[in-house]
Amino acid sequence: MKEKIEEIKKLALEMAEKAKDSKELENLETKFLGRKGELTQILRSLKDLAIEERRIIGPLAQKLKKEVEELVAEKMKEFQASSFKLQSKIDITKPGKKIHGGHIHPLNKIEKEIRDIFLSMNFSVVEGPEVETDYYNFDALNIPKDHPARDAWDTFWLKQSVGGLFARPDSQGKSGLGLKTPDKERKLLRTHTSPMQIHYMQTHQPPFQIIVPGRTFRYEATDASHETTFGQVEGLMVGEDVSLANFKFIIEKFLTRLFGEGVEFDFRPNYYPFVEPGVDVYMKWQNKELEVAGAGMVHPEVFRAVGYDPYKTQGFAFGFGLNRLAMIKYKIPDIRLFNSGDLRFIKQF
Ligand code: PHE
Repeated sequence: MKEKIEEIKKLALEMAEKAKDSKELENLETKFLGRKGELTQILRSLKDLAIEERRIIGPLAQKLKKEVEELVAEKMKEFQASSFKLQSKIDITKPGKKIHGGHIHPLNKIEKEIRDIFLSMNFSVVEGPEVETDYYNFDALNIPKDHPARDAWDTFWLKQSVGGLFARPDSQGKSGLGLKTPDKERKLLRTHTSPMQIHYMQTHQPPFQIIVPGRTFRYEATDASHETTFGQVEGLMVGEDVSLANFKFIIEKFLTRLFGEGVEFDFRPNYYPFVEPGVDVYMKWQNKELEVAGAGMVHPEVFRAVGYDPYKTQGFAFGFGLNRLAMIKYKIPDIRLFNSGDLRFIKQF
């Protein structure tokens, strides 16, 4: 019996050593440990042995059973590991593939920064429609009928709707049908974000302070610093005693937060029909002077248009050119890059 066990042991080890796949291991397991396996039979016959013999053979057989089980399990693991390697062909030493995520457009990036700066100064952020009427874009802002801003060369006029019909307006605003849209209601793409001053004041009472980021449109020739579609950030702060000094303080804080301590800018007088006095904010860009904002104290006529008492109300308004701020901050040499859709440009942000 002892020899028989030794024999089984030798054979089992040999077979396990030679096994080339898990199938052969399974066969080995059945051969020795299966229901009718050679080792199983020995274990089963222990009870028929004489007690002295059983004491010797029993532990030997049990030990061998354990050895074979362990050997099979170990070998099985090896086969599984190597077959996984073959199947998936994963080379964990290879450098990973770069994932190309999207990029935030520089205009969105700077707009977000500007929103956060003004929010921290207790301004509210509001938005308005891109399609406006003559009244909101011009009249209510005290822009007289003969102001150059109304020139057909500056404004994208939309097809006018008359009684539900659309027709292209002629130079007098008459539609091709010979019907005339009332001047005030003639539709256009806003040439600035200032019309939101009117919308907001019509529906709110001072004191308040808001900014209005948004897209604006001008029908004009483009060059490195002029575009037909560009962003503006309007600002409006109105109260009983809001002064030009307050305006200066806010602008200084804003530009310092956006560009950093020591930012260079200056104010120069300019004329806008909806402010008095009017100023422009200038900054340096590519060694040139660039106008980055128009601003001033809100004109009494504008307060009148929204039903405020100009003797009891004061405020300042400003309109920053978003693209121009971005051009200075990110050193962009041409405003036309923003809308170019050129990925080489976008990927830098
Ligand atoms: N709306 C003016 C423009 O687009 C800028 C401006 C805003 C000027 C507010 C004065 C006050 O040029």
